[in-house]
Amino acid sequence: MKALILSGGKGTRLRPLTYTGAKQLVPVANKPILWYGIEEIVDAGITDIGIIISPETGEEVKSLTGNGDRFGASITYILQEEPAGLAHAVKIAQEFLQEAPFIMYLGDNIIEGGLGEFLNNFNQKHLDALIFLRRVSNPSAFGVADVDPDGRVLQLVEKPQDPPSNLALVGVYYFSQTIHEAIASIQPSTRGELEITDAIQYLINKGKRVEARELTGWWLDTGKKDDLLEANRIILDTKLTPATQGEIDDSSQIIGRVEIGSGTRVINSSIRGPAIIGKNCYLENCFIGPYTSIADGVTLIEADLEHSVVLQQATIDGIHQRIVDSVIGRKAHLCVAPRRPKALRFMIGDDSKIELA
Ligand code: DAU
Repeated sequence: MKALILSGGKGTRLRPLTYTGAKQLVPVANKPILWYGIEEIVDAGITDIGIIISPETGEEVKSLTGNGDRFGASITYILQEEPAGLAHAVKIAQEFLQEAPFIMYLGDNIIEGGLGEFLNNFNQKHLDALIFLRRVSNPSAFGVADVDPDGRVLQLVEKPQDPPSNLALVGVYYFSQTIHEAIASIQPSTRGELEITDAIQYLINKGKRVEARELTGWWLDTGKKDDLLEANRIILDTKLTPATQGEIDDSSQIIGRVEIGSGTRVINSSIRGPAIIGKNCYLENCFIGPYTSIADGVTLIEADLEHSVVLQQATIDGIHQRIVDSVIGRKAHLCVAPRRPKALRFMIGDDSKIELA
């Protein structure tokens, strides 16, 4: 069994964060989204992993993620010149995949464990495809399945205007080698992509063994700001192990589950978990509320924030109103003059600078 993670594509939905970086590398609780998928796959016992990368962000993905040693896996990078569709990604990975069955995992998804259990199911039943569904309120934003009362998949459609159900396709798929024949038989869709939904539909039409399971655990498609904040909230809630390194002075208070990295200084501040503060940060006169992730090298002075994500080397200085539901990009700089408006809500891109005067 192998795994193929898709980490190419364009990443337009998380702009401006992804103007300068891969959306799969945006951190959730200070860890790149992509790494959660790799860890889930390795936990399921699969260590031969191919990662699809794009010309724009591939080098960044490669240099940060490495050859797989840190995960106990072997990673092969496969360059996809154009984001020509999920099925196209499988097509160009054929040399890596050979005849092996594989898990296909979308690099911007995070799911709550359990890949190993489904894998047993897939193998025992000799399935050609196993897909996962989740009820959502906005099915038009996803691939959607029409399923009969016994759970058999009748039809799959990609981002339909008029969805046949509210069952969205989750970004994890199990395939046998028959998927290659299906992909070779389909044509690009009207949006010009080779759709994996069309390939699975081909398998269904040919009477192959395609099954679907409804996911009950959480699933996060981190495509947009609010999804990213929600992913951050759930991961901090479920996976954070408290650990305090760095220097915390006597007038500071750490309450609840908080992780603080080495080289970080906390002066006269309160941190209320669940929250994570990276390495080499500087916090003075701050309140950091629950569900906040602060990446490495961030400076926070007189800042009050909660339910937010601050990326590497950003600075927030003198913002006395509470910053909530915000994502602050790398090296962004926020500072404020004494008189200010009542509420602030941000999504600020890498390298931006905002001064509220
Ligand atoms: O998240 C679940 C949804 O993922 C499914 O419900 C949809 O059926 C499926 O098409 C997909 O929709 P998205 O709009 O979220 O796909 P996106 O373009 O964001 O691509 C998903 C991942 O695959 C992302 O990490 C980028 C990567 N990718 C995408 C394309 C089109 C590639 O590596 N190559 C590609 O050609």
